[in-house]
Amino acid sequence: MKIVSLFSGCGGLDLGFKSAGFEIVWANDVFEDAARTYRRNIGGHISAGDISKVDLKDIPVCDGIIGGFPCQGFSVANTGRTVNDERNKLYLEFVRVVNGKTPKFFVAENVKGILTLGKGAVFEKIKRDFENCGYEVLHKLLNAADYGVPQKRERVILFGVRRDLLKNLQVKFPPDPTHACDVGMFPELKPWVSSGEALRDIPEPGETSDIPNHTGSRYKLRFNGYLGHRMIDPNQPAPTVTARGDERGGVVIIHHPGNHRRMTVREVALIQSFPLDFIFEGTNTSAYRQIGNAVPPKFAECVARSVAETFAQK
Ligand SMILES: C[S@@+](CC[C@H](N)C(=O)[O-])C[C@H]1O[C@@H](n2cnc3c(N)ncnc32)[C@H](O)[C@@H]1O
Repeated sequence: MKIVSLFSGCGGLDLGFKSAGFEIVWANDVFEDAARTYRRNIGGHISAGDISKVDLKDIPVCDGIIGGFPCQGFSVANTGRTVNDERNKLYLEFVRVVNGKTPKFFVAENVKGILTLGKGAVFEKIKRDFENCGYEVLHKLLNAADYGVPQKRERVILFGVRRDLLKNLQVKFPPDPTHACDVGMFPELKPWVSSGEALRDIPEPGETSDIPNHTGSRYKLRFNGYLGHRMIDPNQPAPTVTARGDERGGVVIIHHPGNHRRMTVREVALIQSFPLDFIFEGTNTSAYRQIGNAVPPKFAECVARSVAETFAQK
């Protein structure tokens, strides 16, 4: 199936869909460095620019539209979040494209905070706007750790299916988890992957030059319990990797599971389940931001497989 990708960033969500067999035919992001990373690793079909300036006729016909619309205004990590944050309105661009291209389905990803903003009224409005385009919209808060990502990352996934298709389909959503925190309760699943395990074979930066985006920094750690300054338990999945702001603001620091230094760009990418040969463009700060913004490709692939299963039925 042919996919159009909005707010594509460096391509975490797209990489997952590609691995599940979908063909991404068009992508867009305003962040130049992220678009360069995307072009290098996924394909030249990304255009860099503001989506609100893109004419619908310049977006190809597709079977599905995917994207994680910007979440800074919704995020609980944003202490000043308000219903009126201008960045929250960008989802309307997603709605505009879905309405104009009428794909069979769409998948949108967002932060947990979207569910509670304005006591839930904001999310209800977002869902209704998509429903009014002719879609049945399901949503679920999922944890990437339950899909084998070495990180506790809770994100809301919305899956919209065009209403006229519903009578011939049995919607497969949410995807079945592959991993569990307590395998005593779910013996058929694998245990969560810890951050220590995920980074076990990665040498210290400076010991090798063979690993891309793996340079050390002089950043001095602090342990004060605040976001970005917490002790990491190497036996647990890492806490959520986040980027603060889009092209502005600093990224949230994340410690190596040894708690002796900050994780390198490469290590954070592994915690987000990017493959070792996925190379990030731009400065380290830019790369950390691209990674923090991304949907973990491994998690995205599980979501994509459940979409594929839905449409594989007769
Ligand atoms: C949450 S990130 C999406 C990450 C992506 N789904 C991934 O998996 O890598 C949101 C993206 O929206 C982009 N963005 C923000 N405003 C935009 C605009 N007006 N037009 C296009 N992209 C925009 C940001 O640059 C950012 O990369």
